[in-house]
Amino acid sequence: MSRNLENRKWSNSIGFILACVGSAVGLGNIWKFPYITYENGGGAFVFVYLIAIAFVGLPIIIAEMMIGRMGSENVYSTFKDLSKNKFIWKLVGVMCLFSAFTLLSYYSVVAGWTLEYFYKSISGAFSSITIENSNSVFGEFVKDGKWQVFYHSIFMLITAFIVYKGTKGIETAVKVLMPLLGLFVLIIASVSISKYGIGHSLDFLFTFDLSKLTGHAVLEAVGHAFFTLSVGFGSMLIYGSYLSKETSLMKAGVWIVGLDTLIAVMACLMMYPIIFGTQMELSKSSSMLFTTLSVQFNSLPGGSVIGAMFYALVAFAALSSTISLLEPVVSFVEEIFNISRSRATIFSALVIWIAGNFSALSNGSVQFFTDLKVLDRLDFLVSNWTLPLGGLGIALFSGWVLDRSEKVKQFLDFEQKLFGSWDFLVKYISPVLILVVIGNLIFGSN
Ligand code: TRP
Repeated sequence: MSRNLENRKWSNSIGFILACVGSAVGLGNIWKFPYITYENGGGAFVFVYLIAIAFVGLPIIIAEMMIGRMGSENVYSTFKDLSKNKFIWKLVGVMCLFSAFTLLSYYSVVAGWTLEYFYKSISGAFSSITIENSNSVFGEFVKDGKWQVFYHSIFMLITAFIVYKGTKGIETAVKVLMPLLGLFVLIIASVSISKYGIGHSLDFLFTFDLSKLTGHAVLEAVGHAFFTLSVGFGSMLIYGSYLSKETSLMKAGVWIVGLDTLIAVMACLMMYPIIFGTQMELSKSSSMLFTTLSVQFNSLPGGSVIGAMFYALVAFAALSSTISLLEPVVSFVEEIFNISRSRATIFSALVIWIAGNFSALSNGSVQFFTDLKVLDRLDFLVSNWTLPLGGLGIALFSGWVLDRSEKVKQFLDFEQKLFGSWDFLVKYISPVLILVVIGNLIFGSN
């Protein structure tokens, strides 16, 4: 069904861009990027990542926003109404919604952990934490079912409250969260750089020794380019569907990609000086953000305040991402079942909350879910399968299904000279690269 767009539009391009940056900047930037860059040896990996961002991430994020603006409907109806072979494309829409639903269910659990770590840091409970007991502190916490469910519930509640308020709610939230996030990143990076110096970190990040590059690193860089930009989930599509004609998609894309990359690099500059300075090995697991770092902040002046600031920052980044994961699901439920936004929000959030509890209880509190490894398995499924497939669907849809003349109309006059290159990238280059990533998953050894 069609919707009354007028009260849904972003109030201006800045609100829209901030919402997209909020979606893109998340655990992927602050936890995953510093960690995989460290694992893959630095400079050469960063170089490939930047190429992947520019030649795959940027064109596809532009494509996803464009599809959204052309459809001006929920994700599912957009794919259905803009295509001829409806069966296949409806499936792509369903897959995007499935990814958003599933990612949100466990992202909210991990995001909840930041609330506990914020509380522990600010209350001074971490001032005596050591590298020896940080793992057991973390292990005991994630094993405690009631706290897992508690924090997951708080995160879902805040997310649902903002989404229930619609685009206005999202805009207000990101206009507060994003500047704070930037400020906190700057403060933490300056404290850690002034204590330990920046030279070693910059060398590590920007010395391009291509001989160090492995095939695995290249594939990881391409995969991460998708994840960090939130493409393939319908989030950018739904945000694009509230966008007015006058906003330049290419400019918006460059801003989103640029700011997302900046935050990822800054996240490295917050952590690497401490890692190199204290010569502590980075724990090689997803818990690094909570184990190694909670100890390392103690080595900084004002450690508990800086630590608390850090976990607040991760919570802000996660919140602006969870909002953008709930929005595609809510708008789908609202439009397909023709119910009010408040009902759609309550219903969607409730179902996702229930699903998320399985992940919340899968870290040792309930044996059945722990054995099933719910959180890890869902993350594997979404990050490695439905995300690249969704990205592939979006590239092919914008490259081959949509009419060229209709697409041209989505770009402003000054963008026309770049249209041909963009079209070429989404038609050929991006799909081929995604197929290589998926092929490696099926046939590769790692
Ligand atoms: N980009 C987010 C991050 O870096 C994670 C993410 C992937 C995401 N796809 C998404 C967030 C879709 C919101 C919507 O952490």
